[in-house]
Amino acid sequence: MWFIGAGPGAPDLITLRGARALQTADVVLYAGSLVPEAVLEHCRPGVQTVNTAALDLNAQRDWYARALRHGWSVARLHSGDPAIYGATAEQMDLLRTLDLPFEVIPGVSSFTACAAALNAELTRPDVSQTIIITRGSGRASPVPEREALGLLAAHRATMCVFLSGRQLETVVQELLAHYPPETPAALVQRVSQPEERQHRATLGTLLDGLTLSEWALTTMVLVGGALGEDLSVTSRLYDPQYAHRFRRASDPETDAGSAP
Ligand SMILES: C[S@@+](CC[C@H](N)C(=O)[O-])C[C@H]1O[C@@H](n2cnc3c(N)ncnc32)[C@H](O)[C@@H]1O
Repeated sequence: MWFIGAGPGAPDLITLRGARALQTADVVLYAGSLVPEAVLEHCRPGVQTVNTAALDLNAQRDWYARALRHGWSVARLHSGDPAIYGATAEQMDLLRTLDLPFEVIPGVSSFTACAAALNAELTRPDVSQTIIITRGSGRASPVPEREALGLLAAHRATMCVFLSGRQLETVVQELLAHYPPETPAALVQRVSQPEERQHRATLGTLLDGLTLSEWALTTMVLVGGALGEDLSVTSRLYDPQYAHRFRRASDPETDAGSAP
């Protein structure tokens, strides 16, 4: 049994290991609300696919128990990386009670795919070296009060807010408690999929002119100084004067005029 990170949706953003596991699975369970059917192209012909969107944990348990009885190999596809808001811990507990061994295959999380789509590095020297991954509070998974957005915002780190498309006004308002309104911010929806769209602005103007209902689903909010495009800060890593184990510092006298 495998838990497989499907990546953000483009079929070629799953890992090779994940695709190989899908090719051998007899049954594939996938969260159809987030994993596009296009990713199922990696499955072998005739495989049994089950959309888990309508299944509660007991119904999923039945599938696992049936697979165990018949000796079927099962792949469970999760959007992005299974370790992030995947509700995988409860399934792992379930599999342990069934004595069904499993392996987790990581995936490209949507937050890194969003950074790629924005051509952004989320960690910039002297701007932010920290990424906060958090979410809007939900009925099924309330966020602990000590992790309220307004508190996390005090760090002014790069922040990626998952699962918050239905609460964009609240999210922006809470972030503005600490981030200055001119902080770069972006919304990215269905990144890597044919319907992908992105919207860049400052935090203070992020929602101006948007039809918010259009951004309710599968949207990531990114905020932080690192998203700015006009930063003059650079890391010391490629500074010619910066020596490290794999490169000596260049000597401006002797290296002058040498070939590139
Ligand atoms: C249940 S979480 C799953 C996160 C997933 N495990 C990951 O690592 O990306 C669903 C949320 O992830 C974000 N998300 C997932 N896929 C996305 C995509 N293709 N584009 C933008 N955001 C996405 C959205 O915030 C969405 O509400």
